[in-house]
Amino acid sequence: MGCDHNCSSCSENCDERDLRVKANDYSFINKVIGVVSGKGGVGKSLVTSLLAVELNKKGYNVGILDADITGPSIPKAFGLKGMVKGSEIGIMPALTRDNIKVISTNLLLEDTSDPVVWRGPIIAGTVQQFYTDVVWDKIDVLLVDMPPGTGDVPLTVFQSLPVDGIVVVASPQELVSMIVEKALKMAKLMNISVLGLVENMSYFHCPDNNKDYKIFGDSHIDEIAKKHNLNVVAKLPIDPKIAELSDKGLIEDYNSNYLDDLIKKIESIEK
Ligand SMILES: Nc1ncnc2c1ncn2[C@@H]1O[C@H](COP(=O)(O)OP(=O)(O)OP(=O)(O)O)[C@@H](O)[C@H]1O
Ligand SMILES: [Mg+2]
Repeated sequence: MGCDHNCSSCSENCDERDLRVKANDYSFINKVIGVVSGKGGVGKSLVTSLLAVELNKKGYNVGILDADITGPSIPKAFGLKGMVKGSEIGIMPALTRDNIKVISTNLLLEDTSDPVVWRGPIIAGTVQQFYTDVVWDKIDVLLVDMPPGTGDVPLTVFQSLPVDGIVVVASPQELVSMIVEKALKMAKLMNISVLGLVENMSYFHCPDNNKDYKIFGDSHIDEIAKKHNLNVVAKLPIDPKIAELSDKGLIEDYNSNYLDDLIKKIESIEK
């Protein structure tokens, strides 16, 4: 009763301490989806970006919270430059060409090549502020692009944001190791539902002979999915166009429906 989610100033000895933070008064966020991976460089930010683009094309109001505080890459993929502005009600997110809302540390720095040299608690606090202090307004799906691994930031996000589900991104070579399973086990430990696995850089489709080549070898994603009773919701090819468009800040020009099954999973979450 009367809980303001501020456990630090509360004398109640309640069993289920809710560490969740409250969104800005001007934010009306329906679903929060995290994009995670066991290992770096497998394509989380790309999957986050493509998912945002596909959801946006379907008419949803989409936001991206770039929780990769020290290695932010979302603004670049969408060609966002300059700094976001604040107002008396909070920080206004940046808007992409097609009206996807974005917040990222790179939108707070005067020079985007400046490093963010902050300790863990400050980084975790920033992630929370991206939720509490940003004026998100009406958002159907807020995507949270995580840094790699199972460290401080995923822990903060899982504990303090109302995450409805996560997507685990992996590349074929990662799957021979147990790293992807660490991410899955972390989600289970924290009672976060896994919407599915996405295998990125799964194959290369050669336009000259119409054949698919498994550049990184045979994948084991189906076995891992089966072992954990999960679905593989997408297998994305290595596509030089993806790399080119994200380098040019034009990822919104990439037309695909690779993530349709994942979108259906997100749509089916009951709120
Ligand atoms: N399917 C793909 N085809 C071509 N290029 C890709 C593909 N997926 C990712 N890339 C490129 O690979 C690089 C790494 O991808 P991305 O930044 O999405 O990985 P990440 O998992 O977010 O990395 P980090 O762990 O550093 O956050 C980027 O330059 C991206 O454009
Ligand atoms: Mg990334």
